Amino acid sequence: MAELRMGGRARRFAAAEVVLTRIARDAETLGVDHLILSGDVTAYSMPDEFTRARSALRPWAEDPLRASVVPGNHDRYTPGSLRSRRFERSFGQLLASDLPEYVAEDGFPVVRLLGAADAVVGLCSARVPRFPGMSFGVVRRPQLDALERLLADSRLRDRAVLVVVHHAPYRADGRPDRLSHGLLDAEELLALLPGPRFAVLHGHIHHRFHHPATAGRPHILGAGSSTEAGDEGYFLLETAGGQVGSVRALLPGGLTP
Ligand SMILES: [Fe+2]
Repeated sequence: MAELRMGGRARRFAAAEVVLTRIARDAETLGVDHLILSGDVTAYSMPDEFTRARSALRPWAEDPLRASVVPGNHDRYTPGSLRSRRFERSFGQLLASDLPEYVAEDGFPVVRLLGAADAVVGLCSARVPRFPGMSFGVVRRPQLDALERLLADSRLRDRAVLVVVHHAPYRADGRPDRLSHGLLDAEELLALLPGPRFAVLHGHIHHRFHHPATAGRPHILGAGSSTEAGDEGYFLLETAGGQVGSVRALLPGGLTP
């Protein structure tokens, strides 16, 4: 609460609900098939924050074919919020996997098969911090092993695969994030996703950037903080023929920065 009030977070995110509603409206206008949220839909995992986030995302967040979401560290901020399943109570309708046989840890990975050529795979890297201020993430072996088996499944073989995870493999400058804030098993995750058929969509870092895929690495897209004053926006991704195609950063209103 001290961080929220005195650290300026409340001011920076004062219009968050309005911006989220505008982004949801853009998705309708742009004819988007699927809206993907990479976590931190709340600031402090308060029950009211979850309710308001879901409400701002109507009608998208009501339909698993239209939206995917993974929790961020702010959505798992306290042991109590995890114990009482606050994230799941507001977004559980998006968390039932199409391939439940691959669920390895606490409901993850969540797989969504979209049409014949796309798939979204949600991973959970958000852990309740042991100390205030620690905000690193880790996917851990059970989910990584499940992802590896999943990618060998014939139902995913010819699809573009968008892997959603809250923490960032790299910063905007292409270097790993610091240990207290980064994704600890980023290299293990990226090694499973070689080439432009794959993308890792993440949040956590408050900058919007795209590291294009290489032959051995997926596209990496940092969504930035979509609702933070001065940095509002999102990525519009197009896939075609089982590959990730164009990637555009847009401002709310569908405008180009
Ligand atoms: Fe975060």
